Amino acid sequence: MAEIFKIDEYAPLFNIEGAFEEDIQDAMVHGCYVANLAYRLAKKLGYDEEFCLKVMQAGMLHDIGKLRLEDGMYSRKEDLLKADEMKYVRMHPTLGYELLCEKKIGDNEIRQSVFHHHENFDGSGYPDNISGEDIPVGARILRVCDVYSALVSDRHYREAYDKDTAITFMIEEVKNFDMRIFLALMELLHSDEFYEMEQLGEMMKNQVEIQKEKSANSQPAVAGRLATRLA
Ligand SMILES: [Fe+2]
Ligand SMILES: [Fe+2]
Repeated sequence: MAEIFKIDEYAPLFNIEGAFEEDIQDAMVHGCYVANLAYRLAKKLGYDEEFCLKVMQAGMLHDIGKLRLEDGMYSRKEDLLKADEMKYVRMHPTLGYELLCEKKIGDNEIRQSVFHHHENFDGSGYPDNISGEDIPVGARILRVCDVYSALVSDRHYREAYDKDTAITFMIEEVKNFDMRIFLALMELLHSDEFYEMEQLGEMMKNQVEIQKEKSANSQPAVAGRLATRLA
């Protein structure tokens, strides 16, 4: 598989002042997974290389705003009510967009994909509640890849779902997705190309876990080197 994504270039961007090392690590691993899946999905949908690369960059950076959430993004604030927490977490696409503008990262297409990656096709998402083709196509691609990635990943409150269970959950929520893009993802998930990507992804996750135990401080650079191999 061609090496298409040099995550090392992005690693320094994740060193957000005040962010927890563990969160930086998780954001990079998740970003890398979404980036790789989104790139392949955009290719499958027939977009040109330039656009596919932009979608990939947006995938890598889509949750970077979470690192700007005070007190970390993983519910460290014990007295925070669930509703408040939701409101708080919902700020991350805007924070991410602002961060990219501030640091002059990516062009407008990339920033808009990051800003709208939680919009739902039926208009029930955030931050702008836009719907259908008003949602930039990059954001619609990220939406399906992001949800799939989240479902097949371990979370603090549950273990990762397997592929079939993740797909079942996504079918239940299909109103959130652009059907053309969702169907292309389904096809991709059942292809040999995806199987190969999964193997490399597993290897990366295992090595990141080992490295986590060794040293918290060297994580971004290590994740960068390992993640490059996923592409
Ligand atoms: Fe997000
Ligand atoms: Fe995400």
